[in-house]
Amino acid sequence: MMLKDKIALVTGAARGIGESIAKRFADQGCHIVVSDIDLQGAQQVADDIESSGRSARAIKSDVSNAKEAEDLVKFTLEQFGRIDILVNNAGITRDNLLMRMNEQEWDSVIAVNLKGTYNCIKAVTRPMMKQRGGRIINLASVVGVMGNAGQANYAASKAGIIGLTKSVAKELAQRNILVNAIAPGYIETEMTKKLPATAHESFMSIIPMKRAGTPTEVANICLFLASDLANYTTGQVIHVDGGMVM
Ligand SMILES: NC(=O)c1ccc[n+]([C@@H]2O[C@H](COP(=O)([O-])OP(=O)(O)OC[C@H]3O[C@@H](n4cnc5c(N)ncnc54)[C@H](O)[C@@H]3O)[C@@H](O)[C@H]2O)c1
Repeated sequence: MMLKDKIALVTGAARGIGESIAKRFADQGCHIVVSDIDLQGAQQVADDIESSGRSARAIKSDVSNAKEAEDLVKFTLEQFGRIDILVNNAGITRDNLLMRMNEQEWDSVIAVNLKGTYNCIKAVTRPMMKQRGGRIINLASVVGVMGNAGQANYAASKAGIIGLTKSVAKELAQRNILVNAIAPGYIETEMTKKLPATAHESFMSIIPMKRAGTPTEVANICLFLASDLANYTTGQVIHVDGGMVM
């Protein structure tokens, strides 16, 4: 039991990587707030966790809205009395070449991915300081490190998350709040299902392991970063990408 009786808030946890993280944490004794804009999906994940014997609550929350992010943290504290781990997983893509990208495509991706991460970090900082400790894990992407044609908005948001992670890690280290990021490569979820076959092939050609990753493989690294095994690790970006970026 790596997270026995800890309390975690996972955003965007109705499906994909967030769902895997929520369930992997619950496997290890953690109680979970499953948040998403998709309440039905979040409720299903919470029900699955409850049937495995842990406590879970589902809540509809849009991370891009600062007030909703604050209310989400308040809800977690009301339900469980504390918050040990925040996983900023909610993310979207609105892909287009820069020449064709409109303002709405740019703004929405930055609002959810980057501002959403800021909003949730801001909301947990005070309670984690009072508790004298906590873990914050942000989902970045290899694309935030290496760039990707057709994803200028997404790559900028993920590179921003890396800068945010390192800055906040420096600000909060003395408070024993550890802040790290995960940079997944090409992971099989609804997000990557939308990509055309050509994009799939071009990713395969640059992945030394020659396969896509699974959400569970990302969740395992997230579990490590949330656990006592990572007590002296902060401000890091851990790649889970089959060797794509090294
Ligand atoms: N799949 C990949 O290959 C991959 C690679 C690198 C990084 N990532 C990152 O991992 C995270 C999870 O990705 P995924 O593949 O599971 O995506 P996904 O699209 O399958 O799931 C994302 C979840 O976030 C939720 N969401 C969207 N907007 C939201 C908002 N405003 N507030 C709250 N929830 C919201 C969605 O409803 C959905 O349940 C994202 O941050 C993504 O950028 C994914």
